[in-house]
This record gives sequence, structure tokens and C-alpha cells, in this order.
Amino acid sequence: MCGIVGYVGEKQAADFLVDGLTKLEYRGYDSAGIAVFDGEKIDIEKTVGRLSALKEKIKEHTPQGVIGIGHTRWATHGRPSDVNAHPHTDCSGKFAIVHNGIIENFMSLKEELIEKGHKFVSETDTEVVAHLIEDVYEGDFVKAVNAVLDRIEGSYSLVFMCQDYPDTLICTKKDNPLVIGLGEGENFIASDIPAIIAYTRRTYIMNDGEIAVVKKDSIWVTDRKGNPITKKVFEVNWNAEAAEKGGYEHFMLKEIFEQPKAVRDTISPRLKKDNTAVVLDELKWTKEYVEAFNKVYIIACGTAYHAGLVGKYYIEKLARIPVEIDIASEFRYRDPIIDEHTLTIVISQSGETSDTLAALKESKRLGAKTLAVTNVVGSSIAREADQVMYTWAGPEIAVASTKAYTTQLVTMFMLAMYMSGLKGTIAPERAHDLLTQLRHLPDQVGRTLEDVEPIKTFAKNYAYNNDVFYIGRSLDYYVALEGALKLKEISYIHAEAYAAGELKHGTLALIESGVPVIALATQKSVYEKTLSNIKEVKARDAVIIGIAAADDTELEKYVDHVIKVPTTDELLIPLLTVVPLQLLAYYAAITRGCDVDKPRNLAKSVTVE
Ligand code: F6R
Repeated sequence: MCGIVGYVGEKQAADFLVDGLTKLEYRGYDSAGIAVFDGEKIDIEKTVGRLSALKEKIKEHTPQGVIGIGHTRWATHGRPSDVNAHPHTDCSGKFAIVHNGIIENFMSLKEELIEKGHKFVSETDTEVVAHLIEDVYEGDFVKAVNAVLDRIEGSYSLVFMCQDYPDTLICTKKDNPLVIGLGEGENFIASDIPAIIAYTRRTYIMNDGEIAVVKKDSIWVTDRKGNPITKKVFEVNWNAEAAEKGGYEHFMLKEIFEQPKAVRDTISPRLKKDNTAVVLDELKWTKEYVEAFNKVYIIACGTAYHAGLVGKYYIEKLARIPVEIDIASEFRYRDPIIDEHTLTIVISQSGETSDTLAALKESKRLGAKTLAVTNVVGSSIAREADQVMYTWAGPEIAVASTKAYTTQLVTMFMLAMYMSGLKGTIAPERAHDLLTQLRHLPDQVGRTLEDVEPIKTFAKNYAYNNDVFYIGRSLDYYVALEGALKLKEISYIHAEAYAAGELKHGTLALIESGVPVIALATQKSVYEKTLSNIKEVKARDAVIIGIAAADDTELEKYVDHVIKVPTTDELLIPLLTVVPLQLLAYYAAITRGCDVDKPRNLAKSVTVE
């Protein structure tokens, strides 16, 4: 997730570009830059660091001109650095572009363009777009943009500028947001409304496949075939703060709703088109490399640890390698048994959690091969680990982790599938079936978000209970742990998760009339046993909310309410069952008037031991 802006008008473009980017910093903040046409050439200033670093830099030299583009970056391909910052240019400097998204086929395009003599300076996927437009350009700017779109795959919103067209910006999008702000004698382009709200409330919301040619007095929108499109003006009536949250009341809710896209972005570049295999270009492991591991350690904290539990299940089930899992703050102090045949996987959204970082260093010191699963390119953990798999969730702002968790789950699933493919521990038909279901998962996550009203009602009804219990077996238990943590941290309700079979060894004593119990029952191998445990709590008059797959017709007979999620393979269903639990926590916290995005005593990044 990055933020992009564009301006064409009569004022100094840099003023809007920097101001607009400041409003978009929540979309990314590891580097920033602007490009302005100064009448002769495209003048670019960019730097690693937050917007403040760019502001400082352009104090010495502010690009002058009335047309320009800008970018605030959240690194995906290539670490945060000056050269990797956008805007990017072609060899001649005739074109400048800013991009939000991922160009999935950039490697093959880059090879092709290098062969033709193009000189690349950055490690980004985006730079191929600049060289590609240079390559196909024959004097017609619109035609060249179209030719670029014919070749690139992936998700993008893009703004192009070209020295030969000093009055024109061209923008387009696929699977990433883009708006055009309509001004008087000036027009604005941005990823999101907050960037332009101080300048105009009249906007065009761009749709996938539309191309807009934006000048100071006109905006011409067409489809990919050149057919004109008449856009409806969307009048923004939110205030600036609400606009930053995309119209949602809180970042947490926005991030819950971003999960279909976050999960899709994390999966699709790594899944072969025919769903037969996972391709991890970032690892490039061999059968021998994977077979040399006799043990895997997974180390993480909090929500990331809960994702690790699911990851352990995946790796053991699919790749048949024993996995130990530990909380990072415990790992270091228990003299772990590690050698060069150990693979240590650390999971961390921020990539900065000090306990996880220390555990990673300790693991390395003891001789393990290390792999980081993280959301932040260039973070301390990403830099320290031998190898990295990124979750492409975009910046997570709410303290309570949601989209990072679901992207961690799919990343661990793909890693396990990859290892099992190399080791030959999975039949090709089973792999194809699972990967086909994986392909459908982002849409299914979207479907779990379609009707939140029943969840809102449950949350309101139980928001003032002192205790809530979560139960499940197998993968359901791990999701229960995450559901309970979400409720605790943002609503301050005491919540505990138990392996459903364990209740009778003590905790059942706490179940009394009216206590809410959230019971997950999606795992077929333990389904009957879970039902027995549900009956045990029902017999103590608990109020039970069951979570089941859509094709389950049994659970509703034993519980007071049931929330259904789309049916998928039971290995993948944690990605769906966690969503109502996130929403339950969110609406319970709202009912209790809690500060959802910044819960008391907690910080987003825990950089102290
Ligand atoms: C809970 C939550 C925390 C983090 C934990 C690890 O919602 O966000 O439990 O998961 O502090 O943080 P990262 O993943 O950044 O290492």
C-alpha cells in the first residue's frame, strides 16, 4: 500500500503534492518523492524516510512547475532507500511515474527490457513500467499507456507524466484505489480522498480499467478500448479525519474490511495460474534444502504467535516436518536445541518486536537457517533474517492486528504447500484442490463481511458480561485464542480460549448460567467430540454462539445462535472463522465506548523487552 498524488493547474504543484502526501502518510511512510515538470525537464526530489525527510530535503531545492506527481511508499519490492523511492523514470528521463500496487510479472519484463538495453537503477517492480512506456512510446502518450497496460499483470494505480505533454497527466487503476478531484482551472489525483479534501469535495472515483487524461481544464475518461465514459461526480461529505479512515469509524474496522484485498495481494503473485503449485521466488529452495531440515521452530508474540500455531499445524500436516513453536520472550531463556538442520521462522507484523528480533538473533547464533514472515520491508527482522517472505497487507495502523494475521495465515499456508511440494509429501490432486480453494479465499473473506448486523447484535447483547469463553479443537482452538485476544485487548472484557476437550479439567467450574461461550466447530476429524464439549457447557446453561461452515446443518441444534462462514477446506477455514471474531470484538468495544484503535496500555510496535 502506497499513497500517490498528481496535480495539474496554475499553482506550484509541489505545494499540493507535499500536502496531499502528508494526508496519505497512513498508506505508507518509508520513503517519499515528487516529480514536477519545470518547463524543460522533469525535476525529481525523493528520499528515504517519512514525509518530514522529504520536506526537509526540498527546503534546499523545491521543484518548480504547475504539473507534477508524488508518492509516499510502503515498500514491497526493494528495501526503503533513496533509489527505490518513487517517482521512477525511464532511461531518458522523458517519463516519470508513481505506482501503488504490485507488478506481478516485473521479473520477466525487466529481463526483456534489460536485454533491449534499458538501464535499471532500482530494485522495485515499478521501474519496469517507466522503461516499458519508453520502449513502446511512438509519440502518442495515451497509446503508450495502453500498450503498457497490455503487458503488465498485477494490481496498480498509476499516474504517468511525459515531457512531450507538459499539460497532461494520465492515470489508471486495477485493484487499487484512485480518485480525481475536480477543481477550477486545476485538477487533482490521489489514492484516497483525504489528500484532496482540503482542495475540493467534487471527485470522480475511478474504476478498474478506466484511463483518465487529466489536464487543468478537462478530464477525459475512457475504457481500455478508447470508448468515452461519462463519470458521475461523487460529492464527499466526510470530514478529513473520517476520510483518512476511508469513511470507516476506526482504522480497525477499515483494516478488517481490507482483508479480502490484503489476502489476495499476498496470495496471487505466489500462486501458479493453473493452481498446481506455489511459486516462491523469494526462497528458491530445492528438495535437498528442505529435506535437510529435521526441525522447524516458529517464534512470535501475540497475534503473530497465534498465526504461528496455525502455521505449525500446516507444516506438520502438509510437509511432515516436526515443528516447535514458542513465544519469543520465552524462547531465548530456555536453552533451545538448535543446529544447522533447524529452520527458524519468525513471524512479526512490524518486523520490530524486540523479543522476536532477539530470538531470531539467538537462533542464528545457534546455527539455524532463518526465515522472517513480516509485513514491513526493510524492518530490523527482515534485515536480520537469512530470508524473508512478506505479507502484503499494507500498513496496519490499529493496534489490534487483523489483516496482518490473515495474511500471516495464508503466507504460512503457502510456505507449507511449497515445502510439501518440494518434499513430495502431498499428492498433486490434493495440492491442486487446496490451491484452487486458496484462489477463492479472498472472495470468501469478502462474503464473511457482507452481513455484519447479526454480529453487531450479539456484541451489543454480551458487551457487559464479565467473562467470555472461546472453545474449539485443533485449528479451531488456535482461532479461538486469537478471538479471545482480540476481545480482551480492545474491549477489556475478560476472555479466555480453551481447547474444548480441556474444559472439564478445570475451567468448566467457571461456566454458569448466562456466560457467553463462542464455540468454533469446523474441523471434521474432531467434530463429534467438539459437539460433546458444546453439550457440556450447554448443560451448565452457558449461552453459546456457534461458528460453523455454511454447509453445517448440525451445530444449530445445540447452540443458541450460529454464525456461518463460507465452506472451504478445513485447513483454510481459520481465515474465515476469525473474521466474525474480529467483528465481535470490535462491536463489543464500540458498545463499551472503548478507544478501539488505541487500547489502553498497548502500543503497535513493542520495541522493549
Ligand atoms: C494483537 C497484536 C499483538 C502483536 C504482537 C506482535 O492484536 O497486534 O499481539 O501481534 O505485539 O507484534 P508483531 O507482529 O509486530 O511482532
